[in-house]
Amino acid sequence: MIDVCDILDALRWHADVGCDEAIGDEPTDWAALTARPVGRAPSSGAPAAGAAPGTGMARGPSPTRAPAPAAPASARPAALFASPDQPLGASEAGIQARARAGEAQTLEALEAALRSFDGCPLKATAMNTVFADGNPQAPVMLIGEAPGEDEDRQGKPFVGVSGKLLDRMLAQIGLDRGKVYISNILPWRPPGNRSPTQAEVAACLPFLERHVELVRPKLLVALGGVSAKTLLNRAEGITRLRGQWKTYEVAGTAIPLMPMLHPAYLLRNPIAKREAWRDMLALQQRIGEEGIKYSQD
Ligand code: URA
Repeated sequence: MIDVCDILDALRWHADVGCDEAIGDEPTDWAALTARPVGRAPSSGAPAAGAAPGTGMARGPSPTRAPAPAAPASARPAALFASPDQPLGASEAGIQARARAGEAQTLEALEAALRSFDGCPLKATAMNTVFADGNPQAPVMLIGEAPGEDEDRQGKPFVGVSGKLLDRMLAQIGLDRGKVYISNILPWRPPGNRSPTQAEVAACLPFLERHVELVRPKLLVALGGVSAKTLLNRAEGITRLRGQWKTYEVAGTAIPLMPMLHPAYLLRNPIAKREAWRDMLALQQRIGEEGIKYSQD
């Protein structure tokens, strides 16, 4: 007979390690799958190669299938994922991501390439791929860290509580989602909203870099430390980086970038809204200096 306290302890332990949401009816033993020799067909309940989350992956037993042909060396999962402390861009996944992202000539093609990319293990636990929201023709592009729970459910960036605050901050300087474009460093939610690892960022960054290249905004805003440090390749924290215009280089073009405090941080530290307000005013001023005109103005 199982003790109810043991069940509660087990639930608490799962929540603590980030398993706060059931995404399938049956559990999947990811450790056993990783150990599976390459080329062997997945056992019942294993994801089909290339299957995207939200399209049936890990949501129940797969139909019986013939053994898959051996994967090419370049697609072997064991070599695909970088170790957590590997430098950005050094992983096999990062190299594959760069090649796939580089082929995309439009945002639609880039989104499709991202959705079919299996080089980041976060995809397996996320419900949705969160690509972008807002107006891709907008002169201002904001880049956050990673989807949270609400974003993962809805498939759009910044739609939860921090997104509501972001909308209010933008409204204070006359902006809204029709006048900006929003994406994240990572398109998949880290379980339990934990911080992303270096390896996860390395695997996904080429897509974001190509994203910026295709959109070519006039101004960039990095929301939070992970975004600012990644885009600027800097080690300092956001409280040091914020509030000063920096430069993001993309394909020979220098785009002014303003690092700002993340809205989620502002919700936890309302006193810091003073600094955030200053940064929003700096953004507004720069929009004027760049001669950016919105059609409704
Ligand atoms: N936090 C982020 O950094 N991005 C989102 O999309 C939501 C919350």
